[in-house]
Amino acid sequence: MKKFKRSKTCGELRAVDAGTKQVLNGWVQRKRDHGGISFINLRDRYGITQIVVDENAGPELSAVTAELRNEYCVAASGLVRLRPDNMKNPEMATGEVELLADSIVILNKSAVPPFQIEDKPSAKDELRLKYRYLDLRGEFMQKRIRLRSELTFAVREWMNAHGFYEIETPTFIRSTPEGARDYLVPSRLYAGQFYALPQSPQLYKQLLMVAGFDKYFQIARCYRDEDSRGDRQPEFTQIDIEMSFVSRDDVLKMTEELFAYIFNKCLGVELPLEFPRMSYDEAMENYGTDKPDLRYDMRLRDFSAFAAESGFTAFKTALVGGGTVKALVVKGGASYSRKQIEDIEAHAKIYKAKGLAWMKVAGTEEQPVLEGGVSKFFMEKSVAVTNALNAKVGDLILIVADIDRRIANISLGAARSKLGQDLGLCDSRKFSFVWIVNFPLFEFNAEEERWEAAHHLFSYPQEQYHASMEADPGAVKGDLYDLVLNGYELASGSIRIHDPELQKRVFRIAGLSEAEAAQKFGFLIEAFSYGAPPHGGIAPGLDRLAMLMAGDSSIKDVIAFPKNSFAQSPMDGSPNEVDPKQLAELHISITKPESD
Ligand code: AMO
Ligand code: AMP
Repeated sequence: MKKFKRSKTCGELRAVDAGTKQVLNGWVQRKRDHGGISFINLRDRYGITQIVVDENAGPELSAVTAELRNEYCVAASGLVRLRPDNMKNPEMATGEVELLADSIVILNKSAVPPFQIEDKPSAKDELRLKYRYLDLRGEFMQKRIRLRSELTFAVREWMNAHGFYEIETPTFIRSTPEGARDYLVPSRLYAGQFYALPQSPQLYKQLLMVAGFDKYFQIARCYRDEDSRGDRQPEFTQIDIEMSFVSRDDVLKMTEELFAYIFNKCLGVELPLEFPRMSYDEAMENYGTDKPDLRYDMRLRDFSAFAAESGFTAFKTALVGGGTVKALVVKGGASYSRKQIEDIEAHAKIYKAKGLAWMKVAGTEEQPVLEGGVSKFFMEKSVAVTNALNAKVGDLILIVADIDRRIANISLGAARSKLGQDLGLCDSRKFSFVWIVNFPLFEFNAEEERWEAAHHLFSYPQEQYHASMEADPGAVKGDLYDLVLNGYELASGSIRIHDPELQKRVFRIAGLSEAEAAQKFGFLIEAFSYGAPPHGGIAPGLDRLAMLMAGDSSIKDVIAFPKNSFAQSPMDGSPNEVDPKQLAELHISITKPESD
């Protein structure tokens, strides 16, 4: 290799290098034969350089060139020369020059790749994952992995500069309560006992605060056995952060500064100094979700007053039952066909809407007239309705009524998100951050008929609710916050409970008996009895962050070796059966479900 070692990378040569002799190492992206003269695009992680093999090359070079196929790994040496003006390629960083080869050495041949390695992958997901090492060779993945590396580095830089210690916490732990199922690791030494892989370092970071490491962070791997989705993986990475002696606003400010640094450094994007804040209730009422995409406005409006006066039974029933009627205006939506409206309705119904009523705004600007759908109930009030909703001629009005206010909001909110996508309002180069604050501390689990923690059990109930927590758990707001970016929950955190008595009360409300709480978190409660400082933190998801910074909607595209949507790795075939001997050592016997 010494002899063929590169003097430059494939992304490096420029016009000023013309006349110098250089050696490049890389992979054959493409070879074109033009009767005697051949062009080879040589690729490495830095870029692509055009190699020219002249018709006057000796027999040896001609023979090697003839042998070259895509993805062969080669060393090429020769003279850098300027391309003729009409052959310059401004699209390529190296597009002004080419390397006139005097020698090419095949460092390794390649089997015919299962797909062409292109700028943008066109192979099916499963094939890309099976041959991930080839998929990663292409520019699309190279860019993303580079961005992720730069991002991780920027995080470490900022954290270090601001006095945070990076501390590793164990990944064989007692189960952590983040709400998903645990991945378990059987113990060989203790038959029938298991470690859990952390769903997050939550308890450990709180213990680090008790230990006096008042500013902690970790690029932490987390494991959650839940169904995969576009923005979820069974193993993923958090930028896990915790601080002592802070209040909510300190954590928000720290996060804003961290993000400003990262976005500027990695993308050259200036973020606002502060992100807007919105209460959870406001988000639910106006956008029907606690992760609103604010790249576009389109708010849900209260339509109850008009609905109450109308003769439409579905609306009135909802109101009489204590529910609500919400409306959404789709700009220019009057041109929608029945089929298009039905598609939106089908989407709203996934979120339990009983139906999706609609009407269109026709007439003139001075005299708008509602028509179609449920307009017969509102036609006489066309002007008042359109004024109240700020709907214009050519718009479509969508309405959901429900006895359950949450269902009305959430289902119409889902319609809003779909429309945002369909109408092309989601520019991936635009970054719309918003803090969602004042979350409820508890949620009622109707199936199990009990209150449970909305985030996790360690979040601090706001002071004014301390006295009345047990009487009305549903009303308790906590010092919890989510950072939402473009409709994705990017980070989540809270100020924690540091008082053991308050912690016990929260456990009790969430239906955890003293014995259960002691069994699960006894070590934490005990630690809190030794002068635990007030503390709080946050954990941005690194994968989601990288995904949004790359302008993607699949988290897989920013992970080198992700799992597929069935939590499998098509490349190494995991999960897989293991040797019976290994199972015996772990004291495990397998009972397969009958359907297998
Ligand atoms: P939470 O469970 O909200 O909070 O997770 C924090 C952030 O981690 C990311 N995330 C995921 N990313 C990819 N795949 C997943 N399956 C996945 N699950 C979560 C999201 C999310 O916002 N311990 C608390 C944080 C704290 O309170 O400090 C926690 O884990 O971006
Ligand atoms: P119906 O009178 O049930 O045939 O419904 C007439 C229209 O109202 C249909 O477009 C339904 O989708 C819609 N609709 C029915 N129930 C509701 C509801 N609860 N909220 C909104 N629209 C509804």
